[in-house]
Amino acid sequence: MKYLIIYTHPNPKSFNHAIKEKIETKLKNEGNEVEIRDLYALGFDPVLKGADFVAFKAGKTPDDIKREQDHIKSSDTIIFIHPIWWFGQPATLKGYIDRVFSYGFAYISDKGILKGLLTDKKAVIINTTGGTEDDYRNNGYKDALAKTMDIGIFSLCGIKVILHKFFHAVPAVSNDEREKMLLELDSISFE
Ligand SMILES: Cc1cc2nc3c(=O)[nH]c(=O)nc-3n(C[C@H](O)[C@H](O)[C@H](O)COP(=O)(O)O)c2cc1C
Repeated sequence: MKYLIIYTHPNPKSFNHAIKEKIETKLKNEGNEVEIRDLYALGFDPVLKGADFVAFKAGKTPDDIKREQDHIKSSDTIIFIHPIWWFGQPATLKGYIDRVFSYGFAYISDKGILKGLLTDKKAVIINTTGGTEDDYRNNGYKDALAKTMDIGIFSLCGIKVILHKFFHAVPAVSNDEREKMLLELDSISFE
């Protein structure tokens, strides 16, 4: 199986980084191929520009976008690892999606109806939050994020979300709790 990890966090000492390392090791130990796209380390430009639209209109794809699309094309499952910032994806990842999940690559309009093109891909989303599990459940944040990410972005592009996992209250819990969260990943299937 070929996995593509799209990792978004600026701090190599973050819990998200530990999650990324843990999943990479697990998948490799299981004999899978793993490609990492670390969006901050790559310096990926997340700003969708007028020049991008001009290129798309002329049937061309800017090189940095094409490179990412090729990584997506050659993967079976895409694993997104990132914190929740302002109840959504970090701007760098949002911009990556704006630019890379472009019309004609990720979706088309067929008689006015949007149709996903990435129907052979699966996705796993791993998020960390500052808010507690109760906070997310009782205030509807979990459902809202599932709607905007799983359905609004990935299902729309034809991608099947097989898991959307949240690790809650990450900055507030003890190191032992964070260790337990990492151990939980051992028993999760990414297939
Ligand atoms: C810019 C910013 C915005 C944030 N917005 C939210 C938010 O909307 N909801 C939430 O639960 N936590 C929010 N947080 C807290 C982060 O989700 C939390 O610190 C992070 O998931 C912990 O993982 P890390 O140690 O790997 O960064 C925010 C943090 C930052 C820096």
